[in-house]
Amino acid sequence: MSSKLLAPSVLAADFANLQRDIEMVNQSDADWFHIDIMDGVFVPNISFGMPVLKAITKHTKKYVDVHLMIVEPDRYIKTFAELGTNNLTVHYEACTHLHRTLQAIKAEGMQTGVALNPHTNINLLEDTINDIDLVCLMSVNPGFGGQSFIENTYSKISQLKELIERRDASTKIEIDGGVTNKNAKQLIAAGADVLVAGSYVFSSENPLDTIKNLKNLIN
Ligand code: DX5
Ligand code: ZN
Repeated sequence: MSSKLLAPSVLAADFANLQRDIEMVNQSDADWFHIDIMDGVFVPNISFGMPVLKAITKHTKKYVDVHLMIVEPDRYIKTFAELGTNNLTVHYEACTHLHRTLQAIKAEGMQTGVALNPHTNINLLEDTINDIDLVCLMSVNPGFGGQSFIENTYSKISQLKELIERRDASTKIEIDGGVTNKNAKQLIAAGADVLVAGSYVFSSENPLDTIKNLKNLIN
């Protein structure tokens, strides 16, 4: 069984001390950087864009997982590749031609991710699952950090796991939103491979210890 991954969400970092927080993650037991890009249209919030991402990836020494919460993501696929993205996740709800979008992400040498909002059914991935490296199940409605976890996520993990196994896909399952030490173990037991944690990590007194403890909890 491969090890389970932890991806701190930079959205919850201190933006006035971004380099310090990036270095903290570099030195921690965390596996990935999770980076949330919000456009104020697809979600009711704006996070940051390319210049800030460029400043972040100048310092990151780990896998960069970019989560696009934007309309028309196809317009920026090449740019995100150039900025050092390893996995590019687009929202199912934002893609009219998802299959084409996934091919374009692969063509730029990145891994493919698809995020599903809490209301979006797993069955909709039936015909694309073999082209998806990572499915990001939103366990909150996207747009903000620090929201509470939606319990229905557990049932979606089982449905997704069933689909991945039935189609013999190698897709990873990522959970994004409201992850804490209270649900991390149960999420992994249900079938998750990657846990994103934002406010739980960055609002804690000692983020390095919090990451270490979460990582021990899930492996
Ligand atoms: C929400 C973002 C999440 C967010 C998670 O729209 O996609 O990645 O940063 O934050 P927490 O862990 O605080 O729920
Ligand atoms: Zn995210």
